[in-house]
Amino acid sequence: MVFNPRSGESPLSDIQKEVLALKKERNAVILAHNYQVEEIQRVADYVGDSLGLAYRAAEADADCIVFCGVHFMAETAKIVNPKKPVLLPEMEAGCSLSDSCPADQLAAYKEANPNVYIVAYINCSAAVKALSDVICTSGNAMKIVEKVPADREILFVPDQNLGQWVSKQTGRSMKLWPGSCYAHVLFTQQAIERLKAKFPEALVVAHPECVETVRDNADVVCSTEKMIGFCRDSEARQFIVVTETGMIHRLQREVPEKTFIAGPTDTCACNECRFMKMNTIEKLRDCLRDMSPQIEMPEDIRQKAYLPIKRMLDWSR
Ligand code: 13P
Ligand code: SF4
Repeated sequence: MVFNPRSGESPLSDIQKEVLALKKERNAVILAHNYQVEEIQRVADYVGDSLGLAYRAAEADADCIVFCGVHFMAETAKIVNPKKPVLLPEMEAGCSLSDSCPADQLAAYKEANPNVYIVAYINCSAAVKALSDVICTSGNAMKIVEKVPADREILFVPDQNLGQWVSKQTGRSMKLWPGSCYAHVLFTQQAIERLKAKFPEALVVAHPECVETVRDNADVVCSTEKMIGFCRDSEARQFIVVTETGMIHRLQREVPEKTFIAGPTDTCACNECRFMKMNTIEKLRDCLRDMSPQIEMPEDIRQKAYLPIKRMLDWSR
């Protein structure tokens, strides 16, 4: 855990120590996504993917939750644990995928197609969740889609890449909302092949938000948390990790004996999510000190958004 840096890790900085002292004072729990910067990951109580973080947020019994991730993730924490203050170090940390499905457009679609069953990837706003039947994450999407009654037509929102992948894996046809993650669609098979030529032994591990050619040629396609188990259990020693670069830090920490190489785009050797990187250790310290900014939402939206999240948590246990 964070109070005992692992061997080989540098000692905590003064600001990281300040964060830990404030965390204790506030009796807070710090939840961080795998894409957060190393400095934040090291002071978090739990680092994981969207599914693991949703469970941790629901179960949290601290006085306050500090969510180091993007807005929809912190919003999900508030939906499942409404009595606690939920802090997000940078309120502007959004998500291009979430933005690609505005609630008013989904409401209009639903009105025109009242029988459609809406499966929403967790990367969406509370207002979109409130219009949906069930939520999924990249860690449980197949399981969730398989549980949708066979006689219902599915609309999958907002990620067409994840939706296409789930549809292929499960054989279930679905209508796909035309959204995508601006960061994951930048990875190209061409750039990955160039890197593979330099590391021919390396296995390719890709996130399902990547485009089809990247997914089809990867050795495994999975959520960020599942990448850890795959790399640990595999006999391979080297991996090309086709997702946001924060993941490399988590993998190096969990599987220190293996080598992880960032997945490339056509123009860069690695790829960061500009929203995830808006949180900094300074902003984390300041939000704990000031108890601000906090996530707020109308209670009627929260209650409506809770139902499909609860369904997901029940279905994926
Ligand atoms: P995971 O749930 O796999 O961590 O993915 C979250 C995300 O935003 C990917 O871009
Ligand atoms: Fe959203 Fe993409 Fe960033 Fe994930 S990586 S938070 S999907 S913009």
